[in-house]
Amino acid sequence: MSTAAATDLREEILALKKEKNAVILAHNYQIEEIQTIADYCGDSLGLAFRAQETDAEVIAFCGVHFMAETAKIINPEKTVVLPDADAGCSLEQSCPADELEAFLKENEEKNYYVITYINSSAAVKALSDVICTSGNAVRIVEAAPKDRPILFAPDQNLGHWVAEQTGREMDFWNGACYVHVEFTRDSIQRIKDEHPDAVVVAHPECTTAVRLLADEVCSTEKMVHFCRDTDSQNIIVVTEAGMLHRLKREVPDKNLIPGPTDNCACAECRYMKMNTLEKLYLCLRDLKPEVTLDEEMRRAAKAPIMKMLELSK
Ligand code: 13P
Ligand code: SF4
Repeated sequence: MSTAAATDLREEILALKKEKNAVILAHNYQIEEIQTIADYCGDSLGLAFRAQETDAEVIAFCGVHFMAETAKIINPEKTVVLPDADAGCSLEQSCPADELEAFLKENEEKNYYVITYINSSAAVKALSDVICTSGNAVRIVEAAPKDRPILFAPDQNLGHWVAEQTGREMDFWNGACYVHVEFTRDSIQRIKDEHPDAVVVAHPECTTAVRLLADEVCSTEKMVHFCRDTDSQNIIVVTEAGMLHRLKREVPDKNLIPGPTDNCACAECRYMKMNTLEKLYLCLRDLKPEVTLDEEMRRAAKAPIMKMLELSK
């Protein structure tokens, strides 16, 4: 798209936003053009809070499907649209609701306290006791009843990290993010060797082998604070590549180095990259694709999300 065409499109999106009384929420992994037109750009926790607080009638959610679905669960009276309804998530796919339900039934005698990562479907959230994000997982696990065993679903890597942080034993669902498992001990050690004075910040969806090479492990929002506060000038950022757009805007004076995988210089989530400015324009114009949910399931999914938001204040 030419610069002039992109400028026109931006203006049309902003006009539509006003006309429809909409708010644009974007995740830190979105393409730069979407991040910069959004009213708010942040991590899953920040986005859930923004979705809860907004007065707008329409929420245009630029992220992946489970994020838009979470906004709808909290706001049934609002119209929630997303640029591309096919923007899924490998973690969500790794935990189908019927499999989780069957597992809980088979293990009924254990009376699991189910802590579910927000990267999951509404149907899975509806089976959970509480939801967490990478930004509050430690706090949510610390608040879990001491007399019940924990099942942590679906991200086993985040689960292992939070178990280490809290000292709490738990069982793990066997799910993973297909992007973050692409970083390896070798690929990160190699970039560290090239920049011996750099610090490493990694997302907790990375494997333990990668996390062990990191100076800090945190959510995408906390990465902004870490990069700002560290004394180091050079920072290796081990997460999805879109994060670099946000960091470059917020911390322009630091040298931000994308963490490489074994196959490429940086890692991109194909789902996050399905959203484009054109699709954002169309979803605001037509108010579709729209997120709709079965009311009984929505109510069941809302309770563990509200518990999370209460515990995160
Ligand atoms: P954050 O909540 O840390 O932004 O993570 C969301 C995500 O999907 C990471 O892959
Ligand atoms: Fe899901 Fe991974 Fe993409 Fe995040 S980066 S949305 S966890 S597939």
